[in-house]
Amino acid sequence: MKYILAPSILAADFKKLGEEIQVTEKNGAEYLHFDVMDGLFVPSISFGMPVLQSIKSCTNQVIDAHLMINEPIRYVEAFQKAGADLITIHLEACEDVHKTIKKIRECGMKVGISICPDTPVSALEEYVNEVDMILIMSVHPGFGGQKFIEESLTKIRMTREMLNRYGLETDIQVDGGIYTSNIENVLKAGANIIVAGSAVFKGNVQENTREFMEILNKYE
Ligand code: DX5
Ligand code: ZN
Repeated sequence: MKYILAPSILAADFKKLGEEIQVTEKNGAEYLHFDVMDGLFVPSISFGMPVLQSIKSCTNQVIDAHLMINEPIRYVEAFQKAGADLITIHLEACEDVHKTIKKIRECGMKVGISICPDTPVSALEEYVNEVDMILIMSVHPGFGGQKFIEESLTKIRMTREMLNRYGLETDIQVDGGIYTSNIENVLKAGANIIVAGSAVFKGNVQENTREFMEILNKYE
């Protein structure tokens, strides 16, 4: 299992976005987490395809687009064209999850499926054989800088157990409130792709990324 850092640019300084992204890449972050919010599925609005297209030209990181939008199926092609390598959808936001997953595959991208803190792990079972990654939200989606919900650790453990039952080594990503102080709990619970926004981009981006990578590299 590969252990990966996915810095969330939601917390970046947009005046120097390209530079900050490159610092995370140079220091070992293999993914770049791109949070898309529509003001409907979640209260806030973030950024979309034009920003992604521009970022794509400055990094070789895997572009991990987290679509916190209603009916993401409408934008699968647009995000693929803009440069997404992996699209994560919310189970709660799709009328037809299977169809949405199929559409992402047809467009040649990897598929992630996510659940909010109030959605049980059992809701994922129907889709385990169709996805490359499961994203367990450890905060209510919508904003960076929130506190990690401790109950998420149980959900991560349950998800890893479920995948083991199916004989799958699917990636488990966790997103929200992760710092170097609590990342090990998340990894020990069974996650292997860690999203961190504030903890990477607030302060010294190079030092922050290196500190995360030092921990993640112990798990390789
Ligand atoms: C929350 C977003 C997260 C967010 C994480 O809705 O999906 O990716 O940027 O930010 P931190 O790490 O600051 O909690
Ligand atoms: Zn996210």
